[in-house]
Amino acid sequence: MADRLDAFLAHRGFGTRSLVRTLVRSGAVTLDHEVVRDQAARVDGRCVRVDGVEVPVGPDAATMLLNKPLGYACSHDSREAPLIEELVPPAFAHLPMNSAGRLDRDTTGLLLVSTDGELIHALTNPRRHVLKRYRVLYSGKLSHHAVARCLKGIKLPDDPRLTLPARLDLEGVDADGHGLATLHLAEGRFHQVRRMFHELGGEVLALHRDRIGALEMPADLAPGVMREITAAERVLMMQDLEQELVTPPTKPEPTPEPEVQPTMKQILARTTPRPGVGSRRRP
Ligand code: URA
Repeated sequence: MADRLDAFLAHRGFGTRSLVRTLVRSGAVTLDHEVVRDQAARVDGRCVRVDGVEVPVGPDAATMLLNKPLGYACSHDSREAPLIEELVPPAFAHLPMNSAGRLDRDTTGLLLVSTDGELIHALTNPRRHVLKRYRVLYSGKLSHHAVARCLKGIKLPDDPRLTLPARLDLEGVDADGHGLATLHLAEGRFHQVRRMFHELGGEVLALHRDRIGALEMPADLAPGVMREITAAERVLMMQDLEQELVTPPTKPEPTPEPEVQPTMKQILARTTPRPGVGSRRRP
């Protein structure tokens, strides 16, 4: 490990780089028992102590699942705060992690966050057919051919390529008369679900991702909680589900019989973080 000392300490909860600089200059920090006053010194695997207390190095890599709550941005830019990196448990906060694709600030649901660039690439590469399942609440009336258009590919504004085949299941309306649908996508273009629905005549009111590959949102993953993925979950997540794209929709077109399905409301009720969960903010 060749971390700069200020980055090493800042990533382990000792405050901003400027606070860390003050700390280092005060002589409170040692590298292998030698006082160091240069915040740019390299740690290089040496033992770091602050006021004589060893600072744990922590893991070198991690792959984690997050149930992204409403309002958080998938970005490293602090001007866009709150950021999902604020939800990383302290033991992993020093790691340079990225998310596999982005969920919009207003989108909730399952997100993979990892130091493993190859895994992120595999998950987001449309050729791997790792389908992402989105639950959609929308207003407006979709075109009669919405299901067929999703399967065939939709032309989005400012995008020369048709969208890849996607499966749309129309699921009636909720108690307020808003449409409910499920969309399975093998790719993740900018605002893709919202833009596809707009082209089909609807406007997305709420969007929740509840499955990646064959991995459903784990029951223990409350909104705002991020934890390490298990080996079994990783296998499920990477399943190629191309055949699911052509499974016939459960209801025939045009728009099925209206029926009351409060599912989306229940999902949304779960997307507000519990007090104390996901509230770690950097100083
Ligand atoms: N599509 C969108 O429009 N937004 C998301 O967050 C994810 C997919």
